[in-house]
Amino acid sequence: MSSYDVIIIGSGPGGYVCAIRCAQLGLKTAVVEGRDTLGGTCLNIGCIPSKALLHASHQLHEAEHNFAKMGLKGKTPSVDWKQMLAYKDDVIAQNTKGIEFLFKKNKIDWLKGWGSIPGAGKVRVGDDVHEAKHIIIASGSTPATLPGIEIDEKIVVTSEGALALGKIPKKLVVIGAGVIGLELGSVYARLGAEVQVIEYLDHITPGMDAEVAKTFQRILAKQGISFTLGAAVQSVDTAKGGAKVTYKLRKDDSEHTVDADTVLVATGRKPYVDGLGLEALGVTMTPRGQIATDSHYATNIKGIYAIGDAITGPMLAHKAEDEGMAVAEVVAGKHGHVNYGVIPGVIYTHPEVSSVGATEETLKAEGRAYKVGKFSFMGNGRAKANFAGDGFVKILADKESDRILGAHIIGPMAGDLIHEICVAMEFGASAQDLALTCHAHPTYSEAVREAALACGDGAIHA
Ligand code: NAI
Repeated sequence: MSSYDVIIIGSGPGGYVCAIRCAQLGLKTAVVEGRDTLGGTCLNIGCIPSKALLHASHQLHEAEHNFAKMGLKGKTPSVDWKQMLAYKDDVIAQNTKGIEFLFKKNKIDWLKGWGSIPGAGKVRVGDDVHEAKHIIIASGSTPATLPGIEIDEKIVVTSEGALALGKIPKKLVVIGAGVIGLELGSVYARLGAEVQVIEYLDHITPGMDAEVAKTFQRILAKQGISFTLGAAVQSVDTAKGGAKVTYKLRKDDSEHTVDADTVLVATGRKPYVDGLGLEALGVTMTPRGQIATDSHYATNIKGIYAIGDAITGPMLAHKAEDEGMAVAEVVAGKHGHVNYGVIPGVIYTHPEVSSVGATEETLKAEGRAYKVGKFSFMGNGRAKANFAGDGFVKILADKESDRILGAHIIGPMAGDLIHEICVAMEFGASAQDLALTCHAHPTYSEAVREAALACGDGAIHA
């Protein structure tokens, strides 16, 4: 048995970042992790491996569609799926080992096993019970599947199985047009699968700016992904190495079936809190099964905190990281804080999609007067040179004060471009502040400046 200032349960982006900050602040810190490697869902079966497959399949797409146009001729690469999976596994290993190195460097103990909390100030791992002044739950989330659909992670898979399929399916049905469905649907479409996305709502990517969502769907359809919208999946039956998906169209209640080699269920995620002993402890939960916390991440039980996917808010690795740093400062007696108004969201398809702050829809609902500055990548020299003219930058600013309220980008490097707008928003900047900032030419970031200019007297290259 050992005694710590802080024990963190879970080593995903929330947990490991929290541990490093706790150690930097001089606290004796341990992390409980039951997987064989550190890094949680994100590094092992989520963000990182999916980005490796997105990168590899994008290179293939470029070779097939754009190389010849640039005078690069020759045999188009063929897919060695085993090697692609080995590359992905190597990327995972490099990243998870990196966290192990950081733990050693910061003198953080890894308590190997699955943790539970037998009482305030105590964490059980296997047969050992450790003591901690502060316990931080960073146990993450797990796929929320649909009732009556059995996941075997071979034919009917979640994102986890979809990252390690035995072979590239001929026909992939994706249930849910959210982030996971579209990222992984893109991977397999580029690798040659026929991909059909079935979505309950009448549009893709719920919560996204409607204009961006529409453009995004059009671009994905051009890439060969088909969409069946307004359709509620009823059941998935497996037989003879394949599956039959039954759905009902909401507009007329008609029932349809579609055959697939593989079905990806991407209908959201739910907090993973099983086995922690929270019920016996009397920890208050929200009606949606999340751990209820106050603005300092404290639960109703003294000394127990929670962050990341296990609590309310967007299920994003970087939101968990920020909460990890903030709660570390709280337990160290400082003033940790997260600005939830400026948390970017990114979809890593090609083109990428990113957003921060308000959408036109939320501003309209609030009755707030706003203006829109929009600039198409067609007017951006760098994008034209790189076959990346599809998409636009859209900045929303307050009609009177010009203060930036939100931004939405679909286009090349959108996931990186969004951050200059995030910084501007953190500083309460106006669209004019961005517009007056010199941007290097020729870069994609000029499109951001042009959108800011469009909030004022007008973009130059529109
Ligand atoms: P999601 O919540 O983004 O999308 C789920 C979709 O499934 C929704 O559009 C919903 O309407 C639809 N749906 C639900 N039931 C259905 C039914 N019976 N039939 C048809 N459609 C149905 O969830 P997703 O994509 O599974 O992602 C889970 C979480 O992981 C999200 O919070 C997401 O933000 C996060 N994530 C973020 C990534 C990123 O930041 N790039 C990457 C992967 C995941």
